[in-house]
Amino acid sequence: MFRKGLAVAGLLVGLGAFASGGNVQSQTVLISGANSGLGLEFAKQYSALGWQVIATHRRDAVPQTLVDLSAARKNVRVERMDVTKHDEIDALAEKLEGVPIDLLINNAGMTGDFRQPKAQSFGTLDYDQFNTFMWTNALGALKVTEAFTPHVKASEGKKVVAISSLAGSFGAGGGGMPGGYWYKVSKAALNMFMANVARELRSDGIAVALLSPGEVRVEKMAGYDNPRLIEPDVSIAGMIDVIDALTVETSGAFIRYNGELQPF
Ligand SMILES: NC(=O)c1ccc[n+]([C@@H]2O[C@H](COP(=O)([O-])OP(=O)(O)OC[C@H]3O[C@@H](n4cnc5c(N)ncnc54)[C@H](OP(=O)(O)O)[C@@H]3O)[C@@H](O)[C@H]2O)c1
Repeated sequence: MFRKGLAVAGLLVGLGAFASGGNVQSQTVLISGANSGLGLEFAKQYSALGWQVIATHRRDAVPQTLVDLSAARKNVRVERMDVTKHDEIDALAEKLEGVPIDLLINNAGMTGDFRQPKAQSFGTLDYDQFNTFMWTNALGALKVTEAFTPHVKASEGKKVVAISSLAGSFGAGGGGMPGGYWYKVSKAALNMFMANVARELRSDGIAVALLSPGEVRVEKMAGYDNPRLIEPDVSIAGMIDVIDALTVETSGAFIRYNGELQPF
């Protein structure tokens, strides 16, 4: 069913319009963790589509990737927001008061060092890492969504997504990946948070979705090869189509970048 919606949305994008019917240039997206990987690719693709992009990062100085992107594209605005620092989230929400946000992308997240798997493997678990994973991957997206809901409510687009992972799916057996305890549990918590938020916001006409980007070859994977890896531009183009097709009727779903529904 979702695939059918995607085909229609794809056609509309091809014709230079969006399924929401809005003027592409008037739409605004806020992206967390936009300085690398999937977040940066979202910023590149949405800015190329003519959206106003608010690209956020957590560094002390603006990362070079965002210096370059904002210099090349006047519709990219860079702001600082560490998703574990609630005062920073609230401060940015206040700074952007009155700015409608059509699409909020909760992308910021951590996987841990997959070359050092012991910290997240049963028998050698490093319990000190647990809180950081939860504060970043689960609570971060929840708090950001709570803080920016007034901006989304005031917009025409009214969409919120969070980048999850099959690793957080019970139905998919944690994506079949070994170890990864803190990552899997934090993404499972994210899924439950956003499923609840979807129910809360439905009456406001806000559509919420969890997205699974596939296994994507981002910068941090340099030197790690795997035949399942896809390129960031493919994953992001797919997720943009999925977001485009998202409606209040399909709110609360967990959707893969290619439009397939995923089990929770
Ligand atoms: N790549 C994949 O195959 C894959 C698969 C499934 C899900 N995902 C999810 O996709 C999202 C993006 O990951 P990625 O693969 O693109 O990796 P990435 O390049 O490491 O991107 C993660 C981004 O999140 C930021 N971030 C981390 N902690 C933060 C915090 N406390 N506050 C604000 N920003 C923070 C990072 O900033 P710094 O540069 O400052 O660390 C970086 O910009 C994550 O949620 C990840 O779990 C990725």
